[in-house]
Amino acid sequence: MSSETQLSLFDDSTFNQQELIPTDAKISIPPGTYSSMTELAQHCNQCHRCALGDTRTHAVVGRGNLKASIMIVGEAPGQNEDETGLPFVGKSGQLLEKILASVNLSTENDVYIANINKCRPPENRVPTTEEMAACKPYLLEQIRLVDPKIILLTGATAVKGITNDKRGITKIRGQWLEWEGRLCMPIFHPSYLLRNPSREVGAPKWLMWQDIQAVRAKFDEIQKR
Ligand code: URA
Repeated sequence: MSSETQLSLFDDSTFNQQELIPTDAKISIPPGTYSSMTELAQHCNQCHRCALGDTRTHAVVGRGNLKASIMIVGEAPGQNEDETGLPFVGKSGQLLEKILASVNLSTENDVYIANINKCRPPENRVPTTEEMAACKPYLLEQIRLVDPKIILLTGATAVKGITNDKRGITKIRGQWLEWEGRLCMPIFHPSYLLRNPSREVGAPKWLMWQDIQAVRAKFDEIQKR
């Protein structure tokens, strides 16, 4: 046996990794567990804290600038996202990129995107409260690692998942709220805008235009500080 092979017998990194994966949702994932997004993504791809782990192709962790000032939180992956392992890459994602570009923001420079749930719910149903709770520690770790100043919550599920506020999105969109020392704004989910394409004054797309301009203004204000 070569000395290299002998030495590898002492390598317990695989064992430790397995042992650390908090596969049971009753086991907490304390803040500070992950030192990088790569490490977090490895756990997500082996995670079975809820049954969504049984049917995923890829866990969908995030994309964009890991040092972004703005984080966008969506609901859960759809088919395109499950296949690619990247959030918001389908039609909703294309619209989201256009909305960001309209105020000169991009995932390359200013924005990091993640979801409440990392695995695709069957038939794209809304994740259950238990599924959201099982996955929440990963999102909290992502927020800690990226450390955004602004968090945009797309749709009622994202709002409920982060703040536990169960009000409808039409009631609370466009309003700044403080959560854990960060500024959050609930906004419409892009898929809602795809179903409501009118640009008339007061229509969802027009409201989104108001909201994204408010986000841009806040972003500029924060940069100046
Ligand atoms: N919708 C979401 O909420 N998240 C995605 O990643 C894709 C679509």
